[in-house]
Amino acid sequence: MAYSAKIGPSILSSDLSCLGSECVRMMECGADYLHLDVMDGHFVPNLTFGHPMVECLRKSVGQDPFFDMHMMVSRPEQWVKPMAAAGANQYTFHIEATTNPGNLIKEIRESGMKVGLAIKPGTTVEELAPWANQIDMALVMTVEPGFGGQKFMEDMMPKVSWLRSQFPSLDIEVDGGVGPDTIHKCAEAGANMIVSGSAVIGSDDPRSVIALLRTVVAEAIQKRSLDR
Ligand code: DX5
Ligand code: ZN
Repeated sequence: MAYSAKIGPSILSSDLSCLGSECVRMMECGADYLHLDVMDGHFVPNLTFGHPMVECLRKSVGQDPFFDMHMMVSRPEQWVKPMAAAGANQYTFHIEATTNPGNLIKEIRESGMKVGLAIKPGTTVEELAPWANQIDMALVMTVEPGFGGQKFMEDMMPKVSWLRSQFPSLDIEVDGGVGPDTIHKCAEAGANMIVSGSAVIGSDDPRSVIALLRTVVAEAIQKRSLDR
């Protein structure tokens, strides 16, 4: 089985005036990667940051941390090259935001980044499926994108289970409302890349939360491999 349990804190709910030190703190607490939420005020009703911030962050935290860019933007084509130049490792775009996913996947690869493809809660998994063999990661949103701290949508889990059954070695990420109370559902369904914002950042003990999330997912992966 090619995939493993990875935990990526979303720094959206951290003190944004200290983003560099917050990222370092998360890595020191055992994060496997960092999930960075880019919002443009059009695709979602909120605004965060763009590639200039990512470039500064990369300089501040060094080459090691893996940056998974969650691009909640209307024209994802526009930021591929600037994000690659800024030091992004993976470019996760929304299928709802483009008419030509195939071309975008190609551009992302050519710029040297990994490819993530995201679907909003209202988008079916069948729309993602035709691209699944060309991407590195599928992101199943478990809240409406735009804000941290929302309630986990358990009814998204059948999408994750279906993807896991069809694409046994694909990285599958969940994002939104994921924490110690909801991780079991995600793990059982087959997600292996876990984004967690408020549950990790808002905790007094982020290290323990990250370790707990990873243990639950790793146990589910092991169980699935024994069942096969
Ligand atoms: C929401 C973002 C998420 C968000 C997750 O649109 O994509 O990454 O920061 O935060 P929590 O875990 O608090 O729902
Ligand atoms: Zn996100």
